[in-house]
Amino acid sequence: MHRILLIMNDDSSTVPMPVFPEVEMNLVTPKAPVTGTVVKSETCLRGGRKSASFVRHVEIDVSGTPLEGACRAGQSFGVIAPGVAENGKPHKVRLYSLASPTCGEDGEGKIIATTPKRVIDEFTPQKDEDDSDRHELFLGVCSNYVCDLQVGDKVQVTGPSGKRFLLPVDHNKHDYIFMATGTGIAPFRSMCKELFENPDGPTTSQVHVVMGTPYTTDLLYDDLFVKLAEEHDNFHYHTAVSREKQADGSRGLYVGQLVDLKFDDTFGPILTSDRGLMYMCGLVGMQWGIYQLFAEKGITEAYMTIKEDLKDVSHTDWDKEQMRRYIKPTHRLMVEVY
Ligand code: FAD
Ligand code: A2P
Repeated sequence: MHRILLIMNDDSSTVPMPVFPEVEMNLVTPKAPVTGTVVKSETCLRGGRKSASFVRHVEIDVSGTPLEGACRAGQSFGVIAPGVAENGKPHKVRLYSLASPTCGEDGEGKIIATTPKRVIDEFTPQKDEDDSDRHELFLGVCSNYVCDLQVGDKVQVTGPSGKRFLLPVDHNKHDYIFMATGTGIAPFRSMCKELFENPDGPTTSQVHVVMGTPYTTDLLYDDLFVKLAEEHDNFHYHTAVSREKQADGSRGLYVGQLVDLKFDDTFGPILTSDRGLMYMCGLVGMQWGIYQLFAEKGITEAYMTIKEDLKDVSHTDWDKEQMRRYIKPTHRLMVEVY
């Protein structure tokens, strides 16, 4: 069953919207998680000079559970770390984006994958009541648990989750701009595999991945994207490295700045055509610059619904709170931030 979406705009014109598949959701809930088995765990950082972060590619065999064959590219699944939290209650479920395509890593939907990044920091106060002198090592519970897992270990999983961050049913009807920061690349590994490595042959669409990391060594799944770019003329891989100088000596870039720089020759023609879809995944906040860029370029209509409250405010004056409250992405702009 497919839904056809036609969004009415304020000027009463209709913009044809992509058709998305119906997906399974919450087949396995945190109250009754199922057991998967880790079958692979390896670093997926480009590496070279030592990166300051630790990110792994972890594969989990979910065969024989309701998750087998039910997880679609773009969705997430849950992991429940063993033990209890500070409040004495079992740890809450944490969500992780699927990095595997719909057919799984094995082609049969039995093995799912994700891209956990260790949360490692010095304790910093988060709430007013937190002691400002606390400064011991802070380790995220679930990310470190998943990164520590060894091949053969059992893990409690739930899902699938999410129905708003999916590829459309007819891949070839659209062109794609996938913008990621850090582990936000996970769903785009999944989607790019779906688009280029499926049994019906590679997509004919234009596909652009824009990957943002602090350093070149932090690029994730870099070898896959380099290989796709070598093999397919319609696949394009752009990196926005924020803390290193560019080849021409200019300052580091965020993903939104890279889209702005290459707007006229690369991204604009896709975004202004009826075929363009943009996906963003990663840091909370990456969408604000894009909303303002779209307003500056005069292409808000297809991608954003802007409430009256903002209509008379210049986009250069929009603040984050206003954008959060008054701008909603349409079905041509998919946003998953965490
Ligand atoms: P927690 O133990 O939950 O600690 C993190 C929390 O502690 C934060 O919420 C913050 O409030 C607080 N905190 C953070 N830093 C400090 C500090 N220095 N001092 C004190 N407190 C601090 N993550 C991935 O790595 N890969 C993915 O593919 C991925 N996909 C996701 C998809 C979705 C849809 C969502 C919602 C989240 C996704 N995440 C992903 C994030 C993931 O769910 C977890 O939030 C993340 O792994 C951290 O969990 P944790 O248990 O390790 O940390
Ligand atoms: P920086 O940390 O230099 O400010 P990671 O998850 O591996 O840390 O990578 C996140 C990347 O996203 C970093 O390069 C970070 O830059 C960058 N970044 C931070 N804030 C934003 C934002 N609002 N929009 C886009 N990219 C951002």
